[in-house]
Amino acid sequence: MKKKTTIPSGVTELEASAELAAMASEIAHHDAAYYQKDAPGISDAEYDSLRARYRALLEQFPHLRPADDPETRVGAAPAAGFGKVKHAVPMLSLANAFSDEDVTDFAARIRRFLSLPEDAPLEFMAEPKIDGLSCSLRYEDGALTVAATRGDGTTGENITANVRTIADVPKTLRGAYPKVVEVRGEIYMNRDDFFKLNERREKEGEDVFANPRNAAAGSVRQLDPEVSAKRPLRFFAYALGSDDVRFETQDALRKALAEWGFALNGPSRLCAGTEELLRYYREIGDGRFELPFDIDGVVYKVNSTALQERLGFISRSPRWAVAHKFAAEQAETRLLRIEIQVGRTGALTPVAVLEPVTVGGVVVSHATLHNEDEIARKNIREGAIVRIQRAGDVIPQVLGIDEQKSPADLPAFVFPSHCPVCGSLAVREDGMAVRRCTGGLVCPAQAVERLRHFTSRLAFNIEGFGDERVRELYGEGIIHSPADIFRLKDHREVLAGRKGWGEKSVDKLLAAIDARRVISFERFIYALGIPQVGEATAKLLARTYLNLQDWRSAMVQAADSDSPARRELESVDQIGPLIAQDIVDFFEEPHNLEVIDALTSFVTVEPCVVSQGPSASPVSGKRVVFTGTLITMTREEAKAKAESLGAKVVETVSSKTDYVVVGDNPGSKAEKARALGVVVLDEAAWTALVQS
Ligand code: IVH
Repeated sequence: MKKKTTIPSGVTELEASAELAAMASEIAHHDAAYYQKDAPGISDAEYDSLRARYRALLEQFPHLRPADDPETRVGAAPAAGFGKVKHAVPMLSLANAFSDEDVTDFAARIRRFLSLPEDAPLEFMAEPKIDGLSCSLRYEDGALTVAATRGDGTTGENITANVRTIADVPKTLRGAYPKVVEVRGEIYMNRDDFFKLNERREKEGEDVFANPRNAAAGSVRQLDPEVSAKRPLRFFAYALGSDDVRFETQDALRKALAEWGFALNGPSRLCAGTEELLRYYREIGDGRFELPFDIDGVVYKVNSTALQERLGFISRSPRWAVAHKFAAEQAETRLLRIEIQVGRTGALTPVAVLEPVTVGGVVVSHATLHNEDEIARKNIREGAIVRIQRAGDVIPQVLGIDEQKSPADLPAFVFPSHCPVCGSLAVREDGMAVRRCTGGLVCPAQAVERLRHFTSRLAFNIEGFGDERVRELYGEGIIHSPADIFRLKDHREVLAGRKGWGEKSVDKLLAAIDARRVISFERFIYALGIPQVGEATAKLLARTYLNLQDWRSAMVQAADSDSPARRELESVDQIGPLIAQDIVDFFEEPHNLEVIDALTSFVTVEPCVVSQGPSASPVSGKRVVFTGTLITMTREEAKAKAESLGAKVVETVSSKTDYVVVGDNPGSKAEKARALGVVVLDEAAWTALVQS
């Protein structure tokens, strides 16, 4: 292959754009061959000249940077991961309904929120809920430009190259389409294709996928688009992700999606009320195994877009939709043995190893047993026949044993009193269900789990740091504590010479590590793995303390349970004394402070910038009272809207109140407000304020 390194003058924008896109995907192809398969297709010199030409052309046309730009992909090494894509509109999830009553409640809540009388019509679109992975597709002038995973809802991974290989995904839209539009849907795999794929993998000595969903997700997240091209992936469209493209109803939206060339999830049905929804649910449920793909329930969406807009969102899901899930699938099989796993915080978790069995179309060979009391309570014994249950994505559970089918006289299971990994005593504190290894820092299982947590997706997100590698590096004493990860460079030569590593994979890992030398404060907190401090709590802490230095010194002071620092910590919304204690305990362990301090010499922890969202709104942080009867919205709707813009809605008027919004027949609150000099707004003025 021969590549020019100079750019001919007079390249038009159109040519440059096409050329850049072509080169970006060519580079992606070579990167994947090089980094993923250790099988480069071109010489280093040819590769370098391709990159040089790409860079030169991009310098001339910086505004034409392709979506899958190799220069801005995560990590210095492009294939260390996928690039990031910020969603125009966040990708949310759905609330669940499990019973008929939940569905009735859902419809009633909507009527109440909108103040719709019992007999006013309210239509829903009912659709099957496919078990796959959600994807957002961006089309500009009808051409597919970017495909992204949901990721954390705000930012996803750029999977454009892989999604281009899916036949169901139109590369160009048909019919009358908007100039720019994001189409959302689900990437999935048919059950038959999944079984065939697994058969092939088994023959080739590769791990099989647990279910079609995992197979689809694993295939999409292949760094090499050629690999995903060989996987039988499909796509259904069901929503839009653009605020400025609007259809009157979900029904009209579906028709447009079909016209643009998308496959839709069906059979769908417009339903006029709860009874019709439940009939649809039962029909689809009865026929679900005849469908070629797995569904885990159905989705009901308010058909009218205007009503959807009024209903809005609550935390991460819309008020106007719900996923009605099918009951869990059950099966019976033999419990071969009980294994004990040791987690990050030393918790010993019993896991059932089962004779593989198919549950709802999926092969299950492991199930959780929760804790030792569960085992005793359910009288679970090794060798018994057990009933297991699997619900969607949840880890299968052991429900109990089938006494009749199980051999008699099986010995009771004795839960170990010592850690199966480090041999330290394992104890149960008073009132706790969990038995924990007391080995702490000397327990390799805990250390490995902590390191894995540290590098995991929501923490430092270092790709290529899987289970086995962490275990290997820990076992060899190369990595003992998180800071050692950033010293891995010093071991490059040794690692490159090791079996199963090689120069390329070592460089790829080192590049992935280097890409994480700057990290947000909330991720940093989460990465520390403090018990009870998950993603949400880490975020709260970051917003409260803003930077690592202030937080560190406040937490050290909070060791004194009478200190103002402790009171402040306990008063952080949703934290409370128990979580506060875990955080304080963490900081009281000198080793943990050493870990934090060692890390700060390798990584930059970015201070938390309080979000622009609600704080940018004119009512953010304001205390608002609603009084009287509102006309254009219900009280509940007004309150939800105000809160979503960062206002605090209170009941009583005081001198601290910022606004009193009065409807019809306001009564004494309006008078009191005027007496106190609080701003009084009528409904129209309030609406104008929140829309400004
Ligand atoms: S609508 C605002 N419709 O289920 C949320 N989602 O559990 C819009 N899903 O994240 C989603 N089938 O990935 C919608 N017919 C369907 C769906 C569907 C599957 C997925 C989707 C969503 C998840 C929520």
